[in-house]
Amino acid sequence: MILVTGGTGLVGAHLLYKLANQKEKVRAIYRSEHKLQLVKNVFASLDADFEMLFASIEWVKADILDIPALLEAFLGVKYVYHSAAFVSFEPNKYHLLRRTNIDGTANVVNLCLSENVEKLCYVSSIATLGSELNNKPVNEETIWDPEADNNAYAITKYGAEMEVWRGTQEGLDAVIVNPGVILGAGFWDNGTGNLFKKAKKGFPFYTSGTIALVTVDDVVKVMIDLMQSDIKNERFVLVAEHWTYKKFLEAVATAVNGKPPKKLAPNWLLNIGWQLDWFKTKLTGMRRQLTRNLVRTLSTDTQYSSDKIKTALNFKFKAVDDVICETGRLYLK
Ligand SMILES: NC(=O)c1ccc[n+]([C@@H]2O[C@H](COP(=O)([O-])OP(=O)(O)OC[C@H]3O[C@@H](n4cnc5c(N)ncnc54)[C@H](OP(=O)(O)O)[C@@H]3O)[C@@H](O)[C@H]2O)c1
Repeated sequence: MILVTGGTGLVGAHLLYKLANQKEKVRAIYRSEHKLQLVKNVFASLDADFEMLFASIEWVKADILDIPALLEAFLGVKYVYHSAAFVSFEPNKYHLLRRTNIDGTANVVNLCLSENVEKLCYVSSIATLGSELNNKPVNEETIWDPEADNNAYAITKYGAEMEVWRGTQEGLDAVIVNPGVILGAGFWDNGTGNLFKKAKKGFPFYTSGTIALVTVDDVVKVMIDLMQSDIKNERFVLVAEHWTYKKFLEAVATAVNGKPPKKLAPNWLLNIGWQLDWFKTKLTGMRRQLTRNLVRTLSTDTQYSSDKIKTALNFKFKAVDDVICETGRLYLK
């Protein structure tokens, strides 16, 4: 039996589809019923036989912070894909980020150990990698700098990786994937899906940095291939292509028949932007849209190397432009 956490999110839903398609016995945890419909929609967009595939998944209601419920989900499980996380770049969500991403992962790791799970795959992020000097590509060996101005999400994903490595020291076999920004259809209220929604209305500006992209299909394919291989206790950067934000936002806007951005947002404007955003949040309690760390990311050109996974699995990444077009088509549908 395989257990998937985060099955009601972008990565988890596409992973469940692939596992169900391979006729694996799969259990997935969920927190609220209405999210199951989103997963079903993803299946429907990928397969005419979606009802049968969706019905093959055993759903168990559990939060990764609720150990008794999680224990029930772990019964008889041999392989675990842990993709549940709180994805937010809001500094004021730091404590919730820590609880979900670090404590939640510690719970998953502890249950893997106590229930004799054979292998764990943890979905981390390129956010947990350090930075290199002189434009050298960042890879799995690039050391995290705890003294750097790391954002709350990155700190907690790094902490979660530490829990996984701790598990490997206690005898658990594990692999970690570190994807860049993941492209895929089905979830339009967060992540890159939300960009397609926003692009329909048009983006006023683009920024000067680059974005490291990978398709959800490639992420889940690598996860399954790693779990079915002898590889253990290693992590792998998953970045297919680096695009400028200009090219990326133009492609997303074109894919949904929206207006591509025409003007570059200079850094002084972005800096005023995040401060106004902070003030708006203080006044209205609305979620942060732009933070100081995000402004830095949007203006930075960091290159990542995925040579390790390409060699380990002889893996070839899909072109991201096809997936942007297809995601736009599904959004419009
Ligand atoms: N999307 C990206 O661009 C990207 C890039 C790099 C790495 N990642 C990593 O990839 C993984 C999957 O990301 P995603 O894009 O699929 O995220 P997502 O769409 O936001 O989905 C997050 C999933 O985690 C679940 N979750 C959150 N808190 C939970 C809790 N306390 N207990 C149980 N489940 C909980 C959510 O459940 P509910 O539906 O109930 O909220 C949802 O199923 C995450 O670990 C993320 O850090 C994502």
